[in-house]
Amino acid sequence: MFSGRVPWSLEPNELARALEEKRRNGAGLIDLTESNPTRAGFHYPREMAALTDEQALVYEPAPWGLPRAREAVAAEHGVAVERVLLTSSSSESYSFLFKLLCDQGDQVLAPRPSYPLFEFLATLESVKIATYPLVYEGGWRMDLDNLERSITPRTRAIFVVNPNNPTGSYVKSSEAQRLAQLCRRHDLALASDEVFFDYALDDFVPPPFSEIAGDALLFRLNGLSKKCGLPQMKAGWILLDGPEQLRQQAAGRLEVIADTFLSVSTPVQHALPRLLELGSQVRRQIRQRLQANLDWLRTAAQPWRVEGGWYAILALDSGIDESAFVVELLEREGVLVHPGFLYDFDTPGYIVLSLLAEPEAFRDGVTRLRRRLPRPGAPGAP
Ligand SMILES: Cc1ncc(COP(=O)(O)O)c(C=O)c1O
Repeated sequence: MFSGRVPWSLEPNELARALEEKRRNGAGLIDLTESNPTRAGFHYPREMAALTDEQALVYEPAPWGLPRAREAVAAEHGVAVERVLLTSSSSESYSFLFKLLCDQGDQVLAPRPSYPLFEFLATLESVKIATYPLVYEGGWRMDLDNLERSITPRTRAIFVVNPNNPTGSYVKSSEAQRLAQLCRRHDLALASDEVFFDYALDDFVPPPFSEIAGDALLFRLNGLSKKCGLPQMKAGWILLDGPEQLRQQAAGRLEVIADTFLSVSTPVQHALPRLLELGSQVRRQIRQRLQANLDWLRTAAQPWRVEGGWYAILALDSGIDESAFVVELLEREGVLVHPGFLYDFDTPGYIVLSLLAEPEAFRDGVTRLRRRLPRPGAPGAP
């Protein structure tokens, strides 16, 4: 009766079962996977909740988004307003790009390890994901030779996450240039998920991708969810870049897709200019939190090098079973972390922590975690 677009087992895994059990028993939990900024003790200006506008009572269907909202996004990114398409989230932006670029069974290339939602977003659109490796050598680099070998006649696009979740690595200038060359040579589009772009750590200065990607057809994804810590507002956007003619062709088709759904609510569009303005206050707090938690983590363990984003990676000593470790950590210490397999690491033996948790809980959680590590966070090479 059902389509093959939802092929996953719906049974909870061992970690999900252990978590349910903990919650049922009302036992305290230190959640070091927290990625919901609205639950992490930040101060949100009250005005954000009160942003309504009489104009929100009028429905003006606009596939690209209302002009005032697009202008605010254009100003935020320093791009022309015609280049901005509003969506209801970055996840929806992905689904629009899959509809724009791929037929059933076509393929896009995505980084590995990365963000678990990729697989879901693509499969729901009947698109296949092929992965290219990110390799850790004291810092992360993209294995672009491997990526090139993975290109097939069905490949339609290369996706990068900049900085990537959970590796925290930005795309370097030389990588972006080579990606643009590959896209031109093989007629592929390039899409860059930049939702964490503003969260550089340790004063790392990321190269702006739009300037270095050359003249490939480029889509950059961002939104209120991470930029302003407002996932509940449901507003994202795609910035279009690249050679004029290709861009116009893409724009016309994207308009049809967006017009079919008209999914961005009118109230959030009217509020967008002010939300972007006020959002800088939340962003500042998030940045400080991430840096403080990372600094502290380094005093307790040896996380892998991270350039930006909300996450840190610890390598477990070889011989430790990653899945058993996270379940035991939850059951015995009440600390929840993500096992590396969720992010499709090449080999087992990693855990991923969110740097967003409140400092006291973060320190307590990491202290308990350390108790269970034979050699705290020692960076066992993969
Ligand atoms: C790399 C990355 N892109 C996109 C998203 C989703 O963003 P949105 O809430 O706008 O759909 C996430 C959420 O965690 C993410 O980690």
